[in-house]
Amino acid sequence: MNDDLYRGIEDLGPDLAGAFDVTTLDREFYENPYPVFHALRRHVPVHKMTSGAWFLTRHADLDIAYHDPVLFASDKTVDFRKTMGETSLYEHHTTSLVFNDPPDHTRVRKRLAPAFTPRALRALESRVVEVVDASLDAVAEMASFDLLHDYSMKLPIELIGDMLGVPQEDRPKLSPWAVAILSGLEADLTPEQRDAAARSVDDFKDYLRWLISERERNPLSDDTGEVLSKLVGPDEDGESLTELELLHNCIFLLNAGHETTANTVTNGIDALLRFPDQLERLRADPDLIVPAIEELLRFESSVQLNNRKLTADAEIGGVAMRKDDYIWLCIGAANRDPEQFPDPDTLDIGRERNRHLAFGSGIHACAGMSLGRTEARIALLGFVQRFAEIETSGMALRHPRARFRGFIDYPVTVTA
Ligand code: HEM
Repeated sequence: MNDDLYRGIEDLGPDLAGAFDVTTLDREFYENPYPVFHALRRHVPVHKMTSGAWFLTRHADLDIAYHDPVLFASDKTVDFRKTMGETSLYEHHTTSLVFNDPPDHTRVRKRLAPAFTPRALRALESRVVEVVDASLDAVAEMASFDLLHDYSMKLPIELIGDMLGVPQEDRPKLSPWAVAILSGLEADLTPEQRDAAARSVDDFKDYLRWLISERERNPLSDDTGEVLSKLVGPDEDGESLTELELLHNCIFLLNAGHETTANTVTNGIDALLRFPDQLERLRADPDLIVPAIEELLRFESSVQLNNRKLTADAEIGGVAMRKDDYIWLCIGAANRDPEQFPDPDTLDIGRERNRHLAFGSGIHACAGMSLGRTEARIALLGFVQRFAEIETSGMALRHPRARFRGFIDYPVTVTA
């Protein structure tokens, strides 16, 4: 592990910033993208890449884009066809609400609301504690284990498994499906990745069809946190989803809440190990966990990139852009913008006025942010309180993906 990663971030200069392209990244970038993000923000904050797409890095510019969903549209029906073809992967990503605009987006988000009410969250919170406690016991027994796979991943799979009412014995299927389908969003998608992702969509759809009919025969009680059966048929206003909308948005719930949450927990523990003074501060004052989670979400955002498309000619920071231009919103860069966050490369778990964009903002702001925060809070605090010594015990390599920031694996040894 490179201990200098977050110190002495240098200016790479205008030439390197100007040559940046999100489709040609290297290991150095995946390990630590922040020198590149700083250089882009400083020299070319509204950067045109060779494909003609724009890459935005300033917090203020992302704020504008998130809050003007008419000009900065989320619909990807034209763009995804280029990489995904007429596959079920394309059907999935163009049907999930995050890649739709009003009025469809508004209707689907409203129909999914029962999954995110405070009541639904309360039903899940006791499960979060239960799953975290069981996972802590299991890894304490192992002493040396993989933080990501043996600990952080367990929680979101169980929680979304509960939301969808997936029987325990079927839960191991969920993670490989989610990883394959989300990898289908990478800018440098290979034909093999596309086909594997499309097969996962087909398998998941078949599985959900079976699960919905199973729930009709054998309903589960409210205290299990199951919401899938509540999403079938019309709501009290008579709004309903088509069968494909229901299936793809349930698949999306797993994809949206799985790696994002697991990576938030692993990224968070990793950042605390790099800033031991902040780890000690949290152990000494556990009430700091609430601002600490916000700071860790800012500092190592597990979703680093979002996309939009211009529906009309526009200007950002004095740069003219054209209708139909494709836009990359770089959350990872915006969350390190010194105009918004004093001393942005320092982790400060008590940071105030932390307007980070880790959950996006505006009409597409993360629908599961309360659940994600609850999971991260309980899993992260539980871990650092349970183990007095936490040491990395091997190479923790970053996953070579620009959109989702996390590790391939993360070996640790702990002592209670
Ligand atoms: C810490 C963990 C999480 C992070 C960092 C995260 C991040 C994000 C971001 C950045 C977006 C905005 C996408 C855009 O504007 O294009 C988003 C949307 C979304 N997230 Fe999350 N998310 C997390 C956890 C979850 C969980 C646990 C769920 C549900 C189980 C979830 C469900 C959703 C949904 C449904 C949307 C789409 C909202 C819409 O388009 O209206 N997320 N998330």
